[in-house]
Amino acid sequence: MSNTKCRFPMCVFLWTLTFFLCRATVDTLQFTLRKGVRISSGATEIRQMERAEMTLSLCAALCGVTCGTFHVSHTTGVCVTFTEKFFNKNVRLASDPGWTIGYNRFLVTDGDWVLAFRAQAGIEVRVYETWVSDGTHHDSHLGDSSDFPQACLRLVDYESCDRHFRSEILDSWGKILEVRFSFIKANAEVAYVVFNGTGTDRESWFRPTRILSSTWLPGVTTDSLTRPEIKGYCSSSASTCRRFKLYGPVTGCATEWAYTLTIDAPYDKCADDASWPHAGNPEKDFPIFLYSASGRGGLGSDKEYPFMQRADVMAVWVKFAWPRARM
Ligand SMILES: *[C@@H]1O[C@H](CO)[C@@H](O)[C@H](O)[C@H]1NC(C)=O
Repeated sequence: MSNTKCRFPMCVFLWTLTFFLCRATVDTLQFTLRKGVRISSGATEIRQMERAEMTLSLCAALCGVTCGTFHVSHTTGVCVTFTEKFFNKNVRLASDPGWTIGYNRFLVTDGDWVLAFRAQAGIEVRVYETWVSDGTHHDSHLGDSSDFPQACLRLVDYESCDRHFRSEILDSWGKILEVRFSFIKANAEVAYVVFNGTGTDRESWFRPTRILSSTWLPGVTTDSLTRPEIKGYCSSSASTCRRFKLYGPVTGCATEWAYTLTIDAPYDKCADDASWPHAGNPEKDFPIFLYSASGRGGLGSDKEYPFMQRADVMAVWVKFAWPRARM
């Protein structure tokens, strides 16, 4: 191609052609659309194009695989592409019926839920350390060239997964409405809690008082839990390292109970001395995700509650807070 300036409508044609030829397997399904929303400020513009017959697929093609978000106006035919992902902290969104935003489907989604984190049991990699590893983003380029194992994005057939998945969302927490904390065992979700994410940061959503719904009935007791936190407690003396805790009073290993608990080190004094018969062997099984199937789960054998069980995967999904439509 010559270096003459690409001029409309040839330019449009070339972009379109390039898009369909070079990425034959990609269609607009690669993009997720949100009607009635536009970017109002805080994003860096890459390109802008105006065209009477502007379509979503053309604007998506202009965005390609590198832009973070685009928005397109149905009334003026303006398409603008931006560097940032729409959920970036600095980006402000506005409700506007004339606009639609779109973004590359680099995100792993299930309906309105987007996968922010996915941890695999038994791979001997610390979960909390991964959770707080700012800058580690496995979903920045989930395209063809990604070396991230597909098994570690799945909730079925994940036996070969050997990595924890960490989304860019964790470093840009801010537009979150709800958080779903979920456990998978034998290819099925076996327990979950939905937390109210409004006004939270990356750790503060995990509070019993924020629980909106859960499989734990009649409900999570808020008063008798010990440090119900993501960070939990990790001792320097190599005795316990327990994270993502909804865990009852510390009364001695044999009598303790929980809704959930993550053993995040190759040791745990209660599992190591066999007081928690169903907690596995931290040395070879960590991280260990313990969950209760219904209400409280017993950890030690002296407790009347059914035993806690071990999940294969722990996943954190988020639902974004979109600007409310103006009346
Ligand atoms: C979620 O939390 C926010 C802020 O604390 C509160 O205003 C809102 O009512 C809560 N939503 C629900 C559904 O409880």
